[in-house]
Amino acid sequence: MPVNRSVFITGAAAGIGRATALTFARNGYLVGGYDIDVAGLGSLATEISALGGKSVVGHLDVTDHDEMAQRLGEFADAAGGRLNVMVNNAGILRAGRFEEIDISAQLTEIDINTKGVVNGLHAAFPYLRATPNPVVVNLASASAIYGQPELATYSATKFFVRGITEALDIEWNRYGIRVIDMWPLYVHTAMTDSIKTGTTESRQVMRQVHFPVGAQTKVSALSARLPLWLQRLLTKRVAGM
Ligand SMILES: NC(=O)c1ccc[n+]([C@@H]2O[C@H](COP(=O)([O-])OP(=O)(O)OC[C@H]3O[C@@H](n4cnc5c(N)ncnc54)[C@H](O)[C@@H]3O)[C@@H](O)[C@H]2O)c1
Repeated sequence: MPVNRSVFITGAAAGIGRATALTFARNGYLVGGYDIDVAGLGSLATEISALGGKSVVGHLDVTDHDEMAQRLGEFADAAGGRLNVMVNNAGILRAGRFEEIDISAQLTEIDINTKGVVNGLHAAFPYLRATPNPVVVNLASASAIYGQPELATYSATKFFVRGITEALDIEWNRYGIRVIDMWPLYVHTAMTDSIKTGTTESRQVMRQVHFPVGAQTKVSALSARLPLWLQRLLTKRVAGM
């Protein structure tokens, strides 16, 4: 299979990141799979080889900017200096009543879900800029539509991802870099295995930036056109609160 395009994926060892890595590999991309779970990356690399694809995998903690810059540099070298797609996927979720979730767990969640994305965007920029028509895909969530009870901090981190996506899609237009985000609701991965909470655009933009995933999120996204008081009421209803 000829490799002519490259994709760098954070949090690639499991869940959505792993499925994304395999999909890109099937489509002939050189896949850069990075994660803190090195064993999971090993089995990903084996699976990609079995498909006839090509990958580079390695340890990366997205909260460490120096490591992010080093891994992106190494990957870009392997890909001939190009980076066609950057997927900022790594994220964690802590669910429960805000006051009952340990503060250090919440601060770690903020570090991974927000600073990890800033690190990825900043370190990827020179390689994206050097590539024709590159795309950045940030994993936001349906919980970036309206703040979700029992997922308050998680939800707030996804509003951060939504905001930085909107801003950079405009700011980096001058370089031809597209920046979009995905809004899945619940995808059956390790992240959502043990989660039990009450909950499961009208924008004047020239092109689509947010990609609601699944019918329920599409309906929720439409609710963003409703007045805030009605969004709040509907969210309370869905959360059973
Ligand atoms: N699963 C869902 O329902 C859902 C819904 C909306 C959005 N999302 C978002 O999609 C993304 C992926 O979620 P998932 O369900 O596949 O999760 P997952 O838990 O299945 O996989 C997350 C991966 O990220 C890795 N990771 C965790 N901390 C890391 C760090 N500091 N540095 C590098 N890698 C790290 C984990 O090792 C794991 O391999 C997340 O950003 C999540 O918020 C998921």
